[in-house]
Parts: sequence; structure tokens; C-alpha cells
Amino acid sequence: MEESATSTAATPDDLKVRIQLNELEAMVLESKLHVEELTKENSQLRRENNQLKRIPLFVAVVVDILETGEVYLRQQGNNQEYLTQASEDLIPLLKPGAKVAVNNALSIVKLIGNIYDSRVRIMELEESPTISYADIGGLEHTIKEVREAVEYPLTKPEIFRRIGVEPPKGILLHGSPGTGKTLIAKAVAHEAKATFIRMSGSELVHKFIGEGAGLVRELFMLARERAPAIVFIDEIDAVGSTRSNDGTSGSAEVQRTMMQLLAEMDGFDNRGDVRIMAATNRVDMLDPALLRPGRFDRIIEIPLPDAKGRLEILKIHSGKMQLAGVDLTEITALTENATGAEIQAVCREAGMMAVRRDAVAVERSDFIDAVHKVKNEKVSDNRMYT
Ligand SMILES: Nc1ncnc2c1ncn2[C@@H]1O[C@H](COP(=O)(O)OP(=O)(O)OP(=O)(O)O)[C@@H](O)[C@H]1O
Ligand SMILES: [Mg+2]
Repeated sequence: MEESATSTAATPDDLKVRIQLNELEAMVLESKLHVEELTKENSQLRRENNQLKRIPLFVAVVVDILETGEVYLRQQGNNQEYLTQASEDLIPLLKPGAKVAVNNALSIVKLIGNIYDSRVRIMELEESPTISYADIGGLEHTIKEVREAVEYPLTKPEIFRRIGVEPPKGILLHGSPGTGKTLIAKAVAHEAKATFIRMSGSELVHKFIGEGAGLVRELFMLARERAPAIVFIDEIDAVGSTRSNDGTSGSAEVQRTMMQLLAEMDGFDNRGDVRIMAATNRVDMLDPALLRPGRFDRIIEIPLPDAKGRLEILKIHSGKMQLAGVDLTEITALTENATGAEIQAVCREAGMMAVRRDAVAVERSDFIDAVHKVKNEKVSDNRMYT
């Protein structure tokens, strides 16, 4: 009884305690709010701090991954090399040639792009080019030879196996500039549904000094990964000529690049699904080592187009134009000794003349003027044909 009496009738002391309790509760709440605010501020600062730590990041290329788990990097631009660490989850993703971002402390923060980045700078890669044989005028004989040497080993390997012949290993196309060498290589890749990987020999030695041999190795690595593939080395004379064109230094480097190319070719199976093509307009300058059996052992000349070929090329390149009273056979006769590229230029110029006249169609006179214009440019270019 007594107890219940005390609980119902609050003494002044009780009241005081209750008020104090309320006050304390309010303080706790306030502190909680404060903590929440601080937590927010903290994470904000943390984010900013991270941001500050991260920016700017340097870009480097992985040269090698050592057994110790350290990563050997080369910084792009200044070519500085160093060893650094990467987190365990990154290590398995790293491969030589991969591009990575490193922070101020030079540790690897992340992987950027895919591993082809450094190669794509120099290699032109097309899944399957859109050029087909129908886009090539004339050159029937050449196309036939190239198909046998490059396309059929990819598309009908069983025939070679059945008969027991080895397809040629490397095919060298040679001919004047603009005769359609690159065009043919692309068309073969298209027809064989192969990846077309082009590398320019002159870029290799002039633009990527010091990297030539490495890039050649990557070229063949990429081809194997993307097989069936056609590797096309344009202007191979820049890499493999006996005499250096400009007499500049760096020939040791060029030599190294060529040795790498030879080594890659020697290590290749003739019957594989990677075919190797090269082009040059200076076949006379090529190092004989390149032309030995098992290397570029099939040499195919790309001639200037004959009259029939020129007519076809004219038809191909004027195919989309509105023509009015143009006898292409006549133009064929006027373009003797012209290359495919020059005939294409004639068509383009003729079209431009009609555009300038604001005409509805391209006329005979446009073509005649275009022929003269292209011929004059050729003379001033100091080239050898009429
Ligand atoms: N036979 C041809 N039929 C149709 N077009 C041609 C032909 N030959 C050349 N051309 C045209 O000329 C352009 C240049 O040809 P291409 O690049 O194949 O020459 P190239 O022989 O590789 O020359 P370079 O030695 O300068 O590399 C082609 O894009 C194409 O439009
Ligand atoms: Mg070319």
C-alpha cells in the first residue's frame, strides 16, 4: 500500500530527477545529431582526400610482371622505367603491353583500356574489310595468284593438305604507287572473312623509334589472337632494305626490327590461319634475307592497268556519277600509263568540275579537263610517266 502511494504521489525530488532525465535525453539526441553531421563531413573529406590522392594519375605501360609479384613499368612519354607494386586483384589482369594508371607513389591504381591500346596506335585493324574483288578493276591474273596464295590456304586448307603442297608463307606485292596493292590485300581479307591487320613499315621505323622489334612481335601476337587473319606489312622496304634511303642513323634499330620480323616468320606454320602479305614499290632494294624460301617466297607484281583494266577502273569510280554523253573508252585511251589511283583521281576531278559548273551531270569535257589536270600534276610531281 505504502509503495503504491509513493509511486503515485511524486515528491519534488522525483520531479527534479525527471526533468534532469529529460534534459539528458535531449543532450544525447543532440550529440547523436552532431555525430551524424560529423560522420557526413568525414566521409565528404575522405572522398575529397581520395580524389586529391588520385589526381593526377600517370599512364604507364606494363613491360613485364616479375615472379616476385612486382610489376616492371615504363612510363609513356619520358620512357622512365621502374618497378612497382599492384594489388592482388589487379595482378592477374596485367599483361605485358597493358596500359595502367599509377599514382604519385607510382603504385598501380587501375588498368585502363584493353591490352591492345599500345598496338592500335600503329596497327590498323579491320574485322573484315568491305572492299571486294568487284571493287578492283583489271588485275584478274594478279587476283587469281593472290587468291591461290592467300585466300585458299585460309578457306580451303584441306585441298592443300590433300594434295600435299605447302602454301607459300609470305606474299610480296610489288608495283608502282597507286596500282592497288593495299586494295588487293584488303579484298582478300574480305573474301576470306579474315581480320585485316595492317602495319606500315615506314611508320614502324620513323614514328616508333626504339619500339620496332616489340611492335613486330605484338603484330604477330595480335594476328594469332584474331585468326583467321591477314597481316599486311605496307612499305616493307622501310624495314628491310639493304641500303638506307636517307643514310640516317638508326639503321641498327631498323636491323633489329627486321630480324624480329624474320624470326616471327620463321616461327610460323605455312598452313596456319594467319597469312602474311607485304607490299613495296622498291623490290630491288629489299634485303635478300627477306626473300628467301620460308619468308616472302611468292613475289607478285602488280602491273599498270591495261586498256581493259583502265576501262573497268573508270567504270568503278564513275559508277555513282551522273554521266551525260561520256564515252569511257575514249577516256581509257587518254589515260595510258596511268595507275588505278590516278584514274580514280581523274574521275574525282571530273566530278568536281561538274560540281563547279553547277551542272546536272558530268560531261565529256569534264573528263578531258580532268585528264589534263591529273597529267599535269603528275609532271610537276616529277614522276616518270607521260
Ligand atoms: N585496280 C584498281 N581498281 C580500282 N581502284 C583502284 C585500282 N588501283 C588503285 N585504285 C584506287 O587507288 C587507290 C590507291 O590504291 P592502293 O592504296 O591500293 O595503292 P597501292 O598500290 O597500295 O599504293 P602505294 O604503293 O602508294 O601504297 C585505291 O584506294 C583505289 O581507289
Ligand atoms: Mg598501299
